[in-house]
Amino acid sequence: MLEIRYVWELPVRVSHWVNAVCVLVLSVTGFYIGNPFYPASDTAAYIMGWNRFIHFTFAYLFLASLIVRFYWFLFGNHHSSWRMFFPWATKSGRKAAITFFRYYTFTGPKLPYEVGHNPLAAMAYAGVYSLFVLQLVTGFAIYGQFQPDGFWFGIFGTLLTWIDVQTLRLVHHLTMWLLGGFFINHFYSAWLMDVKEMNGVMSSIFSGYKFVERDDL
Ligand code: HEM
Ligand code: HEM
Repeated sequence: MLEIRYVWELPVRVSHWVNAVCVLVLSVTGFYIGNPFYPASDTAAYIMGWNRFIHFTFAYLFLASLIVRFYWFLFGNHHSSWRMFFPWATKSGRKAAITFFRYYTFTGPKLPYEVGHNPLAAMAYAGVYSLFVLQLVTGFAIYGQFQPDGFWFGIFGTLLTWIDVQTLRLVHHLTMWLLGGFFINHFYSAWLMDVKEMNGVMSSIFSGYKFVERDDL
């Protein structure tokens, strides 16, 4: 018998979509900052100024969204807990991750079922959250330079004495491509699982609900 379960609580869903929009906007405006691909017809056009303004505004929104999600790692339900992102730490998690890996690589016919994140996806998400933090640290470190007696320079000023700013820019830039690569796989996997598992995983990130067949678990 099909059961309907509430899996993703509101903060998980809202932060997911805020993060997704932020990554898109920050990638487009960031790419423009590093490589201004359309010219300004005159100085009044202020294109670079607007791109930088939008980049920094969304950077703060991204920071706020991640603070919400990190709080929810600690106080959210079982499925959104930080523990779910380290499946390799338990025997059952490792076993489930291997079954998913075999399914994805066509070496195992069994289609596994999970109520929350599938363990392989959860490991990828742990990597993605690390990349998010890396973008925040490198981004705010570079940003802080505009005001050497300001808040961000106070936090990341020491980092700038260890790593030169061009290296930080390069890391910041390359991380954007890593996130883009993740997204291609993420969209494909979510779609594939939606079709194969038929448990409403795609709509779950909007509604919070998934369908579960007890016998499949
Ligand atoms: C997913 C998140 C983000 C992506 C994909 C992203 C992407 C980029 C890219 C591609 C560049 C151009 C780097 C170059 O080639 O020189 C850039 C520049 C910059 N980003 Fe981000 N960014 C993100 C988040 C942030 C955050 C959170 C901040 C914090 C304020 C930030 C601050 C900056 C600054 C200050 C620059 C300008 C560097 C300069 O003037 O040379 N970014 N960003
Ligand atoms: C069309 C756009 C997108 C769709 C349809 C989508 C779909 C989904 C779905 C269905 C889930 C939950 C299911 C699962 O356990 O795998 C999920 C989770 C997640 N997605 Fe996306 N996603 C999109 C864009 C993005 C983008 C742009 C990023 C970041 C680069 C992203 C990062 C994540 C992360 C980190 C999670 C885990 C959520 C958590 O527990 O905190 N997604 N996504």
